[in-house]
Amino acid sequence: MKTPLWNSSNDQPKATRTAMIELLNQQLADALDLGLQSKQAHWNVKGPAFIALHELFDDAAATISKFADEIAERTVALGGFAQGTVQTIAEGTRLTAYPLHILTGYEHVQALAAALAHYAESTRTAIETATKTGDAGTADLFTGISRDIDDLLWKVEAHAATKS
Ligand SMILES: [Fe+2]
Repeated sequence: MKTPLWNSSNDQPKATRTAMIELLNQQLADALDLGLQSKQAHWNVKGPAFIALHELFDDAAATISKFADEIAERTVALGGFAQGTVQTIAEGTRLTAYPLHILTGYEHVQALAAALAHYAESTRTAIETATKTGDAGTADLFTGISRDIDDLLWKVEAHAATKS
């Protein structure tokens, strides 16, 4: 979604910043949805691994909230407007809607792992796009997020791992 700019003195070309702002806002919508999905899992999970998963899903939400904040703030640092309202999340997210009535640890692990894997993939694409567009700072931000997401996906998936 295109948004206007404010008169920042950031020296990068306007076309670069506009492209990055659009990319950042897309990743922000997905990240905010992902954070809410982690909270949904945190609140509703049940079963023998309750306490481990309850705490893991809350840690995931905290990590996601931290980098969503960094994405939003880079959007503004580049001269854009961060779009983090409920309406922009609902309109912009590319994640599958989190199931409302799943219950067991296994179900929540599967649902959240799928969302994390989707976000990991789009983050890797975002690194590539930022690199090709010539914004090393945004590429670096997404690179750090990519490592965080890989780490979270491992910790969630470890609860349902089998030999492949
Ligand atoms: Fe809580």
